[in-house]
Amino acid sequence: MNNNQMPLGLLPAMGWNSWNTFTWDINEGLIRDVADRFISEGYKDAGYEYIVIDDCWSLKERDAEGNLVADPEKFPSGMKALADYIHAKGLKFGMYSCVGTHTCAGYPGSFEHEFQDARLFAEWGVDFLKYDYCFKPRNVSGELLYKRMSLALKNSGRDILFSACNWGFDNTYQWVRDSGAHMYRSTEDIRDNWDTVKSLAISQLDKGCYTGSFCHNDMDMLVVGMYGGSNNDFIGRIGGLSDTQYKTHFSLWCIMGSPLMIGCDVRSANQATKDILLNSDLIAINQDLEARGAYRIKPEPQWFHTDEIFMLVKTLTNGDLAIGFFNLSDGQREIPMLFWDMGLPYASGYSLSLYDCWEHKELGVFKERFAPTVPAHDCVIVRAKLVK
Ligand code: GLA
Repeated sequence: MNNNQMPLGLLPAMGWNSWNTFTWDINEGLIRDVADRFISEGYKDAGYEYIVIDDCWSLKERDAEGNLVADPEKFPSGMKALADYIHAKGLKFGMYSCVGTHTCAGYPGSFEHEFQDARLFAEWGVDFLKYDYCFKPRNVSGELLYKRMSLALKNSGRDILFSACNWGFDNTYQWVRDSGAHMYRSTEDIRDNWDTVKSLAISQLDKGCYTGSFCHNDMDMLVVGMYGGSNNDFIGRIGGLSDTQYKTHFSLWCIMGSPLMIGCDVRSANQATKDILLNSDLIAINQDLEARGAYRIKPEPQWFHTDEIFMLVKTLTNGDLAIGFFNLSDGQREIPMLFWDMGLPYASGYSLSLYDCWEHKELGVFKERFAPTVPAHDCVIVRAKLVK
């Protein structure tokens, strides 16, 4: 699906962000290569559209007029030329700044320069701004600073998607939608290891009610396909996840309605990575028009009471249900779903026709109950249709 005609922020954003793999080591050649790969490898056709430069793109000082300056060694052609290159491919261009005096990596932030920076981003042709939370003066409210930049962007003369990134701090849920942000980070930074992915997902299980059209709960960029390939020890320079774990990570982010921002090096992505990131059945669930959050069902019997084994259900626009059976535990499990728990009583006369979104095949028609056996760290995602 192509989101180009959609109102800004209606659906979770899809794209690529430089941070997870490259952190400080970014330049215009890399960004152009990613844009090229978006076309040649099918990412654009699958719906990925934003190419976002994260932190470390500017000089350490503003110029004499107080403007941010792109680092001429990393971006010798300038940001406008890079935006033009990306736009010519039918893609969108994203950049990064921060509510504070400095970004998290110590470059100038937009504090007290919000309207000036928003105008500059608009002149450069920026379509997306990620806005971080480091170096915020302690006595200034973050809520106010997000409102300020939102206002500046909306009045910049250009449609710029506003991606807030305050990590779920300071009661984000209570004010972020009102602030005008189109998406908001609700977690601390992801790392390319299973324990982090698992704990981020579990931390968001009760947050389904806070996500939706025009303000999506962002669980952080994807680590799918990184295999420990970051240049940064914090994110994870060795190890990574197994393909099964990456599949589960992607499935969680899809059904939970998170933006899908690829974090791996798409220039060297292997087939397993592409099969995950380009799974159109999963993307369709994530990009469903009504953008509803997923609700959790804990399986019976009661001894299943662990946060590691759960089902997530997302109500889809056409009346189907997306159902995820997640086994984040270390052993194989049968995970039984009683249709009653999704509002479908036996007495209704309906059964569910199930389609497996990873095997890409029909599983048949089931009455009352479906109970897949799910290996450790794996998941089963089905699309369920009511049939008489
Ligand atoms: C914070 C954000 C990350 C990334 C870095 C850049 O940690 O949460 O996603 O943008 O800053 O310094």
